[in-house]
Amino acid sequence: MIYKHIKQIDTSKDFILPCRKNELEKVKTLLPLSKPDFDGEFLSYQLLYGKDGNRIYLLGLGEEKHSARLEEAFRKLCFDTNKYWDKTIQVYAENLTEDETRKAVIGLEMAQYAIGEFKSEKEKQNQFTVTISSSKSIKKIIDEGRETGLTINKIKALVDAPPNIKTPEFLGKWAKKSAKDANYKSTVLKQKELEKQGFKAVLSVGKGSVNKPVVIINEYYGASNKKVDICLVGKGITFDSGGLSIKPSTNLHYMKSDMGGAAVVLGAVELVAKLKLNINIVGIVCSAENAVDANSYRPGDVIESYSGKTIEIIDTDAEGRLVLADGLSYAVKNLKPDYLIDLATLTGSVVRTLGYEAAGMFTHNQEMASIMSDIGYKVHERVWQLPMFEEYKSDLHSDIADLRNFSGKPLTGATNAAQFLESFTEEHKNWMHLDIAGVSFGSSPYAKMKSASGYGIQLITEFIKQKAVK
Ligand code: BES
Ligand code: ZN
Ligand code: ZN
Repeated sequence: MIYKHIKQIDTSKDFILPCRKNELEKVKTLLPLSKPDFDGEFLSYQLLYGKDGNRIYLLGLGEEKHSARLEEAFRKLCFDTNKYWDKTIQVYAENLTEDETRKAVIGLEMAQYAIGEFKSEKEKQNQFTVTISSSKSIKKIIDEGRETGLTINKIKALVDAPPNIKTPEFLGKWAKKSAKDANYKSTVLKQKELEKQGFKAVLSVGKGSVNKPVVIINEYYGASNKKVDICLVGKGITFDSGGLSIKPSTNLHYMKSDMGGAAVVLGAVELVAKLKLNINIVGIVCSAENAVDANSYRPGDVIESYSGKTIEIIDTDAEGRLVLADGLSYAVKNLKPDYLIDLATLTGSVVRTLGYEAAGMFTHNQEMASIMSDIGYKVHERVWQLPMFEEYKSDLHSDIADLRNFSGKPLTGATNAAQFLESFTEEHKNWMHLDIAGVSFGSSPYAKMKSASGYGIQLITEFIKQKAVK
């Protein structure tokens, strides 16, 4: 979609008229009748016709508390009604704040996401020009919203992609193309290089698949120095069968989404580069397929890792923490970032704890936790802090190796995984782990089966924005 800023709305053409709950009064001069049946309830909309036969969509923005997910209102309206629209649709943004205008654009762009990429007959996609009317200067906000929406759609397409296509190598190619388009550097380490550099845990997890593992290192230097401000590490398991500790077959197909953390990392670096933020960011993606094969790593194996630590494998389904361990070790040893954040669809335990409403947040840095929590509310990609008490650490004990990858107990699974990761951070003061297993992929009104949510792009990009020099 093309977005343009206009100063004034043309009331003889189609337009969207956003309206808060019980605030019809504020837009009454633009209404074709004095009292439409409309109270501005969040996600509700009402079509009225102007005297020129033009469409006026009254769009309910609800109450203050709905601001954080305002994109949903625009997304739903656009998704439901765009088949009726002419080439141009106007949005009356005079009463919207900058954040709300950005969210309006994100929502309109999100409605363009086409999930049926692999259908023989593609659904017809209408292309529109959206003109946004405001007397304020909002060009930058519109551009930001558009780039954010586009990135969200791109990472959703990655997470929804089938695992026979979305191999680790495919993610590497995606990164290379993105780096070229958005002007940053991407290095894709393949088998030989991983062996040479010692990514032994990544290699162990990938042993059972013909689709060989890769580690992707995306570097964006937008500040004037070369210091790495923030390093993101993402779990990129392109399909998690569980390995020899095989998962049950119900819903197994959804384990194509086990690279949701990687998708956020890939998308966030791309977006930050497109927005040309004044900050240095490195995104690391550790990608492998956890497959069942004669060559698969086994429960009982003791494997090595990038850090030199040995790990006893109790369950090959606890593979995410293994690939992340190497990514985190690489980051602390070679990049020494100010902030180190990993994102992963890491445990079923976090889904049982927080459901689909918040990511599990783990850190020893309360200031960072508080900032991330505030941003989470603001962009409606919420996080909830879970404990990492010293006492839980005995669950990582192995008699024969430095640590084990699973306690064997049906308790505190998300915390155990977080503390396993912590062992590879060299006590980094600004490390945070986000377990996004419940929020990255799930049900929505826009698809009949579970699908990617796009969670994390706004959260992480906003965190980066706050750390960037203005
Ligand atoms: N990829 C899964 C976690 C997951 C579960 C993601 C549900 C999305 C939805 C992860 O690799 C896994 O299998 N974790 C196990 C760990 C256990 C064997 C220690 C789990 O949480 O059950
Ligand atoms: Zn697993
Ligand atoms: Zn997994």
